[in-house]
Amino acid sequence: MYILAIESSCDDTSAAVLQDDILLSNVTASQAVHEEYGGVVPELASRAHQQNIVPVVDAAIRRAGIKKEDLGAVAFTRGPGLMGSLLVGVSFAKGFARSLGVPMIDVNHLQGHVLAHFIKEKDEDHRQPTFPFLCLLVSGGNSQIVRVNSYKDMEIIGATIDDAAGECIDKCAKVMGLGYPGGPIIDKLAREGNPDAFEFSKPNIKGYDYSFSGLKTSFLYHLQDWQQDDPDFVEHHKADLAASLEKTVVDILMKKLRLAVKDTGIRQVAVAGGVSANTGLRNAFRDHAWRYHWTIFIPKFSYTTDNAAMIGITGYFKYLDKDFASIDLPAYARMA
Ligand code: KG4
Repeated sequence: MYILAIESSCDDTSAAVLQDDILLSNVTASQAVHEEYGGVVPELASRAHQQNIVPVVDAAIRRAGIKKEDLGAVAFTRGPGLMGSLLVGVSFAKGFARSLGVPMIDVNHLQGHVLAHFIKEKDEDHRQPTFPFLCLLVSGGNSQIVRVNSYKDMEIIGATIDDAAGECIDKCAKVMGLGYPGGPIIDKLAREGNPDAFEFSKPNIKGYDYSFSGLKTSFLYHLQDWQQDDPDFVEHHKADLAASLEKTVVDILMKKLRLAVKDTGIRQVAVAGGVSANTGLRNAFRDHAWRYHWTIFIPKFSYTTDNAAMIGITGYFKYLDKDFASIDLPAYARMA
């Protein structure tokens, strides 16, 4: 059974083809148009999706070595995300599935990130988590600790009460005058800096919830102070600032995750979402695995940021349950 999957929730137009749970192709067109604005411009994103969707789907089907008539279902991201962006993928997927006479499957984008750990590639000896496991889901829009009981049963036990980790990193990078998105730039700079050079404020929030707005403000105010004495402070301390910021974010993330592991007794721990590409966070996971005997699952780089492969694998599990969508199912920007 071949599934076509479509992802268009933010600024990546992506299409993938899976044969059952094996990934055959995963094609993504990223949108450079937002760089000069320092963030995603929703109207430009939906226009770019409209331009990209047909060539991206066509390339995914060709690279999979099949014809569109071979497809048995079409899965699509229904939300959460930017409404204008989602509508392009949702409308295209519905129309395409209808024209082929195959079922359509709606997928929650965040569940897709979590289930990316189940994507298999051909001839790959793939380690997968078993249920239950904990997943730290960290992206530009979310920072959550999810207790994953099964493919369908996921419980968010902790979430950010304000900014997401990726958003915080991106905004700090912006005040440093770095490009967008700041995450990968901070990561690169941090490798050359001293993570203990500067100290920024850490939140004091109960339970498993996160907060990153205080760190963002603390970073900004410290920088303004330092720049009064040295207007070129950023230029002189770029790498140390990046390394110290990264360390603070990783410490905040790992502290709550350790608490969740301790309280639930679940030692299988996965990480997912755009920020899971971060070297410091990946190293912290490896360190925790060794120190606390966790069994960890770190995704391939290509499955960290938005991609249709993760929508395809989630669609596959829903297909097995015959959990199909009706043509009138609307997209949603936020979770209810
Ligand atoms: O999951 P994602 O592609 O999009 C959503 O938010 O849904 O995540 C994007 C976020 C951005 O904030 C970006 O700066 C961050 O992931 N990011 C990173 C790295 N690569 C991407 N943050 C830190 N280090 C990285 N290497």
